[in-house]
Amino acid sequence: MQIDILEHEPPYRVGVIIGSLSKESINRRLAGALEKLAPAEFEFFEIDYSRLPLYNRDYDADYPAEALEFKAQIQSADAILFVTPEYNRSLPGALKNAIDWGSRPWGQNAWADKPTGVVGASPGAIGTAVGQQSLRSTLSFLNARQMTSPEAYVTYTPGLVDDDGNVTVESTREFLSMVMEKFLEFTLRVLTVIPRA
Ligand code: FNR
Repeated sequence: MQIDILEHEPPYRVGVIIGSLSKESINRRLAGALEKLAPAEFEFFEIDYSRLPLYNRDYDADYPAEALEFKAQIQSADAILFVTPEYNRSLPGALKNAIDWGSRPWGQNAWADKPTGVVGASPGAIGTAVGQQSLRSTLSFLNARQMTSPEAYVTYTPGLVDDDGNVTVESTREFLSMVMEKFLEFTLRVLTVIPRA
């Protein structure tokens, strides 16, 4: 999709935020597969939040370097893609902590107007649907722009993504390619109305 009135050329930089800190994370695997399936106009980079302390508002007067760097990475991204598990029918606490860091100090919300997408994998049959809704509720309050459709709930079976980051089930591969194509369209639409700084 080409939108000519965009001031900026591709690549459009997608900051990937993985909702799991586990080294064995299936969501990390899925994120790698999404990068491979994504349109050439996208360039993915991971936004790491694993060293952020637990947020409390006492930090607002003097944000730690890790948090300033985290916010700078959000701000530098053209779009943010969350690839996250569901924890106890909600979003993982570590991810929520990172989102809270990005939202503060008051008036300096890094998520505002950012194009965002949400994908998640779980071994369970409803593949993160409830956790994604929790995440979306927070993103909504933070005034992020959200791709609301298509939704992507991935039930992860062993071997779904191989060690080279390939999706081994054709129908899932096609579906996820379509989701990434739609995410590019969505991102370009948002950037057309709200150009990046
Ligand atoms: C889970 N898991 C899980 N799965 C699910 O479908 N719905 C849920 O609410 C939960 N809750 C939950 C809580 C906690 C604390 C853990 C550790 C796990 C299972 C989860 O989907 C599974 O462990 C995934 O492999 C986690 O994703 P990553 O870390 O592999 O990306």
